[in-house]
Amino acid sequence: MHVHSKLAVVGAAVSLWFQPGAAQTCANVSTTQTYDYIIVGSGAGGIPIADRLSEAGHSVLLIEKGPPSTGRWGGTMKPKWLADTNLTRFDVPGLCNQIWADPSGVSCTDVDQMAGCVLGGGTAVNAGLWWKPHPDDWDTNFPTGWQSKDLAGATEKVFSRIPGTTAPSMDGKRYLSQGFDMLGGNLGKAGWKFIVPNDNPQLKNRTYGHSTFMYSGGERGGPLATYLVSASSRKTFTLWTNTVAKRVVRTGGHITGVELECNGAGHAGVVSVTPTTGRVILSAGVFGSTKLLFRSGIGPTDQLNIVKNSADGPTMIGNDSWINLPVGYNLNDHVGTDIEIAHPDVVFYDYYGAWTKPIVSDTETYLTNRTGPLAQAAPNIGPIFWEIIKGADGVLRHLHWQSRVEGTLNTSMTVTQYLGTGSVSRGRLTITRQLNTVVSTPPYLHDENDKAAVVQGLINLQESLASVANLTWITPRSNVTAAQFVNSVPATPSRRGSNHWIGTAKIGADDGRTGGKSVVDLNLKVYGTDNLFVVDASIFPGMITANPSAAIVIVSEHAATKILALPPAAA
Ligand SMILES: Cc1cc2nc3c(=O)[nH]c(=O)nc-3n(C[C@H](O)[C@H](O)[C@H](O)COP(=O)(O)OP(=O)(O)OC[C@H]3O[C@@H](n4cnc5c(N)ncnc54)[C@H](O)[C@@H]3O)c2cc1C
Ligand SMILES: *[C@@H]1O[C@H](CO)[C@@H](O)[C@H](O)[C@H]1NC(C)=O
Ligand SMILES: *[C@@H]1O[C@H](CO)[C@@H](O)[C@H](O)[C@H]1NC(C)=O
Ligand SMILES: *[C@@H]1O[C@H](CO)[C@@H](O)[C@H](O)[C@H]1NC(C)=O
Ligand SMILES: *[C@@H]1O[C@H](CO)[C@@H](O)[C@H](O)[C@H]1NC(C)=O
Ligand SMILES: *[C@@H]1O[C@H](CO)[C@@H](O)[C@H](O)[C@H]1NC(C)=O
Ligand SMILES: *[C@@H]1O[C@H](CO)[C@@H](O)[C@H](O)[C@H]1NC(C)=O
Ligand SMILES: *[C@@H]1O[C@H](CO)[C@@H](O)[C@H](O)[C@H]1NC(C)=O
Ligand SMILES: *[C@@H]1O[C@H](CO)[C@@H](O)[C@H](O)[C@H]1NC(C)=O
Repeated sequence: MHVHSKLAVVGAAVSLWFQPGAAQTCANVSTTQTYDYIIVGSGAGGIPIADRLSEAGHSVLLIEKGPPSTGRWGGTMKPKWLADTNLTRFDVPGLCNQIWADPSGVSCTDVDQMAGCVLGGGTAVNAGLWWKPHPDDWDTNFPTGWQSKDLAGATEKVFSRIPGTTAPSMDGKRYLSQGFDMLGGNLGKAGWKFIVPNDNPQLKNRTYGHSTFMYSGGERGGPLATYLVSASSRKTFTLWTNTVAKRVVRTGGHITGVELECNGAGHAGVVSVTPTTGRVILSAGVFGSTKLLFRSGIGPTDQLNIVKNSADGPTMIGNDSWINLPVGYNLNDHVGTDIEIAHPDVVFYDYYGAWTKPIVSDTETYLTNRTGPLAQAAPNIGPIFWEIIKGADGVLRHLHWQSRVEGTLNTSMTVTQYLGTGSVSRGRLTITRQLNTVVSTPPYLHDENDKAAVVQGLINLQESLASVANLTWITPRSNVTAAQFVNSVPATPSRRGSNHWIGTAKIGADDGRTGGKSVVDLNLKVYGTDNLFVVDASIFPGMITANPSAAIVIVSEHAATKILALPPAAA
């Protein structure tokens, strides 16, 4: 593979990125070569399809705006105790929550939500939770060709490469299982059924299990450790990190390349696709792909006029070539509702402290054997449990409850209820004149049946735990009803947000240019273009049950098959 040497291999240029306040430098990349596929963004969507397309013999360029993350790719960010190793903060499961303690140089700075802008995107910074989807996740919202039966092959492929584990420590033990034992044990007594989640993805009603992670070998694993490794072994694959795509360059609906952006000095250029047959794939995530589409003159006229009035204005594509599509609409996220319970058996482990003042014996067992608490995700996540609630509208709504040992007491657990599949809440993502993407309409609880499911799920949990000795409800308190509590939590991203954004470039047969709601067709090609595709969380038409990264990787696998089967576009 070609990694741009100055940026990805030599530390000097990379470290510029971490200097507070330093403007991003422009990648010193050659724009003379052309590529069959240019993919923008190296997250859950971008990496797998880059691998599949290069495997098929095509020349592929993967452009990532952020720096390298895990050690394998030249990442450098780490606490002192990792100094003599080839690991970074991104490799160690127990350090995954460092993004909340210190997001600088890691989180995206042009977005009003938390998102990872490093190599691997969300898959480099997330908690690694990894779920085989429930059939309803596809069948409730996805169109023809994207039903659970159609996705079975892609699912099998993804889980053969990244099987996931419920016991990430290399000795197969689960450390600090008191939270799981207390809460899981009591759910079991109340009739909830214990399952191995990814062996039984279809059993999501009153079931519980251990958290399942994409981790392998006691390290992060996932797409960065699998798909990107095989892609990089091919001469036809090129990776540019620290390189920002500004927009696609197009003549009408035919894309000829991708324009790169520099802040200040440096050389901005256009990297071109193979004439006539080349294609561009946007995998920049919900925020990044929406922004790239707007800057490329694709989206609702009000948003394109904002871009027209920004610094981009003088060089933006003319309005006679704008493609009017509902980009940014249909934004969704899991509706998150946090409750907090305490029980004397629960034991807190200070994962945040593991950065500066780790328990030395725990770093030793981790470094020597990849065992112990640091081989597990902060902040000790589990149990996970599920319920399906039928609404007054007849819709089945999926609840996914995610527990963590973290709260106001060292004996407390915060348990987040995610409302997923079946929820009908809708939001909107827009752009500002400074070219930041913002959640202008939060997607949470616009629908009464959504709210009823959230309330009913909480009541059912309260009933299931009603007779547990020594269990204290901290939130909601016992003098507050479930409905009062749910109504009291504002429907804002800061109080409800789950970082599971989807939906702003929805897939569907209903062409958004002519009154439909979809931005991409059933091959994920942007309507009105010959050769521009979106392959990331943006294309999801509706919410799914659980944390979405595995489902996004499955979409990417399936998209590769669809795109490879398309005849070359005519110019
Ligand atoms: C803190 C956190 C924890 C999470 N925990 C979990 C979890 O445990 N399990 C789970 O399943 N999901 C989790 N998620 C969600 C999951 O990681 C995301 O849903 C998923 O990564 C989205 O995939 P994507 O391909 O759409 O975008 P991303 O993974 O966000 O990738 C987009 C990439 O594009 C790059 N990019 C953007 N704009 C440009 C540009 N103009 N030029 C070049 N590159 C660009 C970005 O830097 C980024 O690398 C979490 C998310 C966050 C933020
Ligand atoms: C950019 O790379 C080219 C060749 O790859 C090299 O000749 C040139 O000196 C580099 N420029 C900078 C500013 O590093
Ligand atoms: C890290 O180094 C060890 C040997 O010290 C090697 O076995 C391993 O493959 C390296 N891992 C990565 C991700 O580079
Ligand atoms: C879920 O399980 C509960 C309790 O067993 C049951 O009453 C309910 O009908 C089930 N819901 C669905 C949608 O299957
Ligand atoms: C398109 O742009 C031209 C030139 O900037 C402007 O005169 C015209 O009003 C615009 N048309 C629309 C429909 O916005
Ligand atoms: C690593 O594992 C070996 C074999 O189980 C054990 O003897 C050794 O004590 C472990 N080292 C540490 C630091 O835990
Ligand atoms: C909670 O745990 C932390 C870290 O283990 C410890 O420093 C703190 O004193 C504990 N607090 C209480 C109230 O026990
Ligand atoms: C509840 O707490 C009391 C007093 O701390 C203790 O004696 C009892 O064993 C606890 N019961 C359970 C079921 O934990
Ligand atoms: C519940 O009780 C707490 C104190 O225990 C009080 O502060 C709060 O106002 C009460 N809430 C309601 C809705 O009565």
